[in-house]
Amino acid sequence: MKDSPESIENRERALAQSRSRATSAADAPRDDSATDGGGFNRRNLLKASTLFGGGGLIAQAVLPARASAQQTAPSGAPGAEGPGRLVYKDVLVKARERLYPTCRVCPVCDGVACSGDAGGIAGSGTSMSFQNNFTALQRVKLMMRNVHDVAKADTSTTIFGHKISLPAVCAPMGPAATKFGKGMTQQEWFDSIVGGCVAAGTLGAVGDMLTYPIEDVKRNLKVVERFQGKALYNSKPIPNEIILKWQPEIDATGAAWLSVDIDSGPKSVAQLKELVKAFKMPVVVKGIMRLDDAMRCMDAGVAGIAVSNHGGRRQDHTAGIAEVLPAIAAKLKGKVPILTDGCVATGSDVLKYLALGADIVMVGRHILRGAYGGGAEGVALFMNKMRTELQSAMVLTGVPSVSKIDSSILYV
Ligand SMILES: Cc1cc2nc3c(=O)[nH]c(=O)nc-3n(C[C@H](O)[C@H](O)[C@H](O)COP(=O)(O)O)c2cc1C
Repeated sequence: MKDSPESIENRERALAQSRSRATSAADAPRDDSATDGGGFNRRNLLKASTLFGGGGLIAQAVLPARASAQQTAPSGAPGAEGPGRLVYKDVLVKARERLYPTCRVCPVCDGVACSGDAGGIAGSGTSMSFQNNFTALQRVKLMMRNVHDVAKADTSTTIFGHKISLPAVCAPMGPAATKFGKGMTQQEWFDSIVGGCVAAGTLGAVGDMLTYPIEDVKRNLKVVERFQGKALYNSKPIPNEIILKWQPEIDATGAAWLSVDIDSGPKSVAQLKELVKAFKMPVVVKGIMRLDDAMRCMDAGVAGIAVSNHGGRRQDHTAGIAEVLPAIAAKLKGKVPILTDGCVATGSDVLKYLALGADIVMVGRHILRGAYGGGAEGVALFMNKMRTELQSAMVLTGVPSVSKIDSSILYV
C-alpha cells in the first residue's frame, strides 16, 4: 500500500510531536490514548508499522535522526563490519522479525511502544520507570572539549581483576528472556550473550533462578565455566539457604562476581553479610536507588553496588537512574565499584553514566536485541559499535582514559 503525501506528512508531524514529548515525559503525565495530529501517536505508529511488515523501514523513514544515531555502526569499528559480514542494521531487522510482538525493536528504545506489555520487555505497569531512565539520561548533556592533544582514548578498564575493553558489561537477564517472539533455547541465549560480550573483550552475564530445574541451572552455570569466568552470575534473591546450597558450584565457575538483584525481593544487612561471608567471589548487590541502602550494603561488606531499578521492570514510577546515581557516587566513588544500568544504547550513554559517577555500566535490552538478531555475533557487533562510539566521544570531550572521566565533561 502506497502512502499518500498527506499520510506521510501526518506521520512526520506525529513524530515531531512525539520527539518533543520524549524530552518532557518525566514532567508530564503520560496518556497512551492521546493521539497526535493526523490520528497517530508514536506507539500506534510503531505497532502499525511492524504489523504491516517492513516495520523497520517505515519507522526508520519517519525516525531518521535518532535511528541513525543508534543503528549505524561507525566505519572502522574494530571487528564490527566488513565485506560479506553481518552488519548491525541487518541484526536489527532480524531481531525485529524474531522478537515481534514482544519487542518492536524501535529505533529509539525508550519504553513507549511496549508500555503495558506485561511480562515482555517493557517496564512494569505504565512503563514510566523505564521511560524515566531514558529521559533522565537524555537530559544529561556533554560538553565538547576540543583544544587538547588527546588523539586516541583508551576505553579499557578493570573490574575485580578483569581487564575489559570498555566499561560496559552485560546486564543479567534470566531465562525469561528466551520466551519472547519466536524465542530461543536457554543454551542459545546464554551462549549468545556471554559469547558476544567475550568476543568484544568484555564480560557476559548469566542470570538464573536457583529454583529452576536443576538441569537448567547446571547447564547455565557451565556457560560461565566454558567462557572461563568471563561473566557475572546473578542469583535471584531467593532465600539464602537455597543460594548457599549452590555456593560451591557457583564459586567453582570462577564467575567474575555474584550479583543479587534485591529489587526483586529485599534482603536485610544480616542476610547480605551471610552471602558475602560464604562466597569466595565478590558479591555485588543490584537494585540500589538510595544512598542509605548503598550504605547498608557497605555495612554488609559487599564488593560492589549496582545502582539500578531493574530497567523499570519491578516498580512503576520510580526516578530515572541518571537522577539518583550522582548522590550515591558522591559518597562512594573510589570505595567500591559502582555499576549502573538503564537505557544504555550508545557510547555517549556510557560516557554520561561514567561522568555521573559510575565505574561500569550494564546493558540489557540492546544486548537482547543483538542476541535475537545475530546470536553472539549480533551482540559483539553491538558492543564493538558502542566501544567505537565511546572512543570517539572521549576524544571529543578530551578524556584520554576511563579513569579520567568525571563530571567536568557535563553541561550543568
Ligand atoms: C528480559 C529481561 C530479563 C531480565 N532479567 C533479569 C534478572 O533475571 N535479574 C536481574 O537482576 N535483572 C534482570 N533484568 C534487568 C537487567 O539486568 C537490567 O537491570 C535492566 O534491563 C536495565 O538495563 P536496560 O535498560 O539496558 O535494559 C532483566 C531485563 C530484561 C530486559
